[in-house]
Amino acid sequence: MRKKYLHITTFGCQMNVHDSEQMAVLLAEQGYEQTEDSTKADCILINTCSIREKAEQKAFSELGRLMKLKEKNPDLIVGFAGCLAQHLGARVHSRVRNVDLVFGTHNIHRLPEMMEAVQKERKPVTEVGFSSSLHSLGIFAPPRDGAISAFVSIMQGCDNYCAYCVVPYLRGPEKSREPEDIVGEIEKLAGCGIREVTLLGQNVNSYGKKSGRGDDFVSLLKKINEIEGIERIRFTTSHPKDLSNELIGCFGSLRKLCRHIHLPVQSGSNRILKRMNRGYTAEEYLEKTARLRRVCPEISITSDVIVGFPGETRKDYQETIDMMEKIRFDSVFSFKYSERKGTAAGALSGKVPEAEKRQRLKELQALQDRHTQEKNTSLEGSVQEVLVEGPSRNSRQDMTGRTSCWKIVNFEGRPELIGRTVPVRISRGYLHSLRGKQISS
Ligand code: 5AD
Ligand code: SF4
Repeated sequence: MRKKYLHITTFGCQMNVHDSEQMAVLLAEQGYEQTEDSTKADCILINTCSIREKAEQKAFSELGRLMKLKEKNPDLIVGFAGCLAQHLGARVHSRVRNVDLVFGTHNIHRLPEMMEAVQKERKPVTEVGFSSSLHSLGIFAPPRDGAISAFVSIMQGCDNYCAYCVVPYLRGPEKSREPEDIVGEIEKLAGCGIREVTLLGQNVNSYGKKSGRGDDFVSLLKKINEIEGIERIRFTTSHPKDLSNELIGCFGSLRKLCRHIHLPVQSGSNRILKRMNRGYTAEEYLEKTARLRRVCPEISITSDVIVGFPGETRKDYQETIDMMEKIRFDSVFSFKYSERKGTAAGALSGKVPEAEKRQRLKELQALQDRHTQEKNTSLEGSVQEVLVEGPSRNSRQDMTGRTSCWKIVNFEGRPELIGRTVPVRISRGYLHSLRGKQISS
């Protein structure tokens, strides 16, 4: 029998990357092998993101491009998945003809039956219902050969309703997985050679709060810290309002917890933070980051910032800049505010002109590049423990890996090092990576 090939294009966050891994696992059970080459695929899935308008445009232009392959090969199955599919539902079919499959964020586990329905009936299938069960989160994705790092979803959805954000509407209410299921999954991953896990959720700091069982995020971390074979634990994303002193303390006490926190601040202006419905002040944020650095001086702190939120004046923007000057983040993902239909911010007055948003973003990114470069330069001469992930993209002689603080390090090394944690003396700090030399341990 001829092999069947699956091609997946993923847009958006790590959550989406993990969802795509799960889709691949479910279709592997139906005999599909993954391919990077869309032209030889029998099934193409586009896993979409809807967080900003640009992400939507990208998803539709990719869909348009891939639909041309279907014109040549009518048997090709094309599926549109993820947040944008969740948002648009059957409207995808009216926007683009001949899409076979549209399914949302809560329906991944039903992919095999949806595929069967498409193949048998040859008519479009749409599944975008919400489910209060966590079926889709529990699909075990066996790591690819040689992988040393894996994502593990610990919860789905979000209850925070930040004024600019569509996620609560597209991924539903927050629900946490049982700690036993999570620990079981990580033990299984450790058995497959995984050394590092990244725990995923929209707001991992509120893990378990609604369950009433008393299993909070800190107790989950402590359990994972005990799992044999796992050397590093990371998590994303944290919400500043829910970052407890206990969790901050873990950066000093849990050996396997990596010295990095992604803590989206969004704005440095209290007026804007309030309009964004973020639930903390700039002073509280500063206090929490100071506390993190007291507990763990080498911790790397990264963040997300939005410029041009409705009502943001030059003075508000300057307060964000001032905060960045005070904190000196290791890196920042920064975005122009993008209006999303149905969100509270859509109804706010004081829209900032596009050109002004662009200008603010440019200035902010230039400042952050300076800070990132300074941070990376300051690591020159230090010895960093690097978990080796594989060969570097740029040079065959080089291996690449990350420090506990999430910095990429390239150094001359052999493939036998993959999966090992090795000491590397940093010789050069660049904007996006570090270069170093392995030293004997
Ligand atoms: N416009 C711009 N940026 C947004 N983000 C979320 N929604 C929007 C929006 N409507 C950013 C936030 C969030 C990150 C994942 O995306 O900074 O932390
Ligand atoms: Fe969106 Fe806010 Fe939830 Fe993050 S915490 S997913 S920004 S609503």
